[in-house]
Amino acid sequence: MNSGPPIINLKDINFSHPGGKAVLNHLDFKFYNGDRMGLVAPNGSGKTTLFHLIMGLNKPTSGDMELFGKTVTTAKDFEEVRRRIGLLFQDPDDQLFSPTVIEDVAFGPLNLGKSKEKAQNIARRTLANLGLEGFEDRITFKLSGGEKRLVSLATVLAMEPDVLLLDEPLTGLDSDTSSKIVEIISNLDQSYIIISHDIDFLLYTTNQICSIKHGQIIFEDESQIHVHRHVHPHGRYPHKHG
Ligand SMILES: Nc1ncnc2c1ncn2[C@@H]1O[C@H](COP(=O)(O)OP(=O)(O)OP(=O)(O)O)[C@@H](O)[C@H]1O
Ligand SMILES: [Mg+2]
Repeated sequence: MNSGPPIINLKDINFSHPGGKAVLNHLDFKFYNGDRMGLVAPNGSGKTTLFHLIMGLNKPTSGDMELFGKTVTTAKDFEEVRRRIGLLFQDPDDQLFSPTVIEDVAFGPLNLGKSKEKAQNIARRTLANLGLEGFEDRITFKLSGGEKRLVSLATVLAMEPDVLLLDEPLTGLDSDTSSKIVEIISNLDQSYIIISHDIDFLLYTTNQICSIKHGQIIFEDESQIHVHRHVHPHGRYPHKHG
């Protein structure tokens, strides 16, 4: 399944927000090409903080970060990382900044050096895949919460990154839209880490689930995962098996 050296390798990472208590505490974490990982942990345990560290949006207090085999420290190092890792922010308002939807979704491909026409084509195709045909000229800040989340996902997918970090991708989505997004995610070719509180969703889309405890990554033991063995789409809704 996974192969080669880790593409994300965090070694003995410590992190606290300015003036705050330790969030990540001697954290070690390895992620390999081909991994599809779920991350489920209580509110405030440091999940979003971990994603922001990997993207260079938070700086560790101490420890080493190796991404794609290279030690990363400077802003320039992280420019390269952000081309290869796409982050879906927990709050879509942190993701979207252009006046219109098409500008936001085309921004990434344009930034990667694609022509305007090509970037717009990618943006249109990505929007269509997410059921957002006709949204191209909508004003971004006037979208509903769920629509903003879908457009945010489009901005990430349009860049075709090697790795996706998805911070609670289903939050605020209705059940039909959630089911559609679950299918889209499960059919992705890329490696990814998904933060969610929805275990059924994670069991369907990932092949390992970890948590954060006392600022460290821990892997859930088999007996806990066992309970949810009859995993399938829509599993989080009350249902009976025939
Ligand atoms: N900018 C900040 N300044 C100070 N403290 C912060 C900041 N951002 C987060 N924190 C604190 O850091 C801790 C970890 O926050 P983080 O957002 O990583 O949690 P989380 O696991 O993603 O939680 P949730 O499930 O609620 O999204 C929390 O105690 C939070 O209050
Ligand atoms: Mg969070």
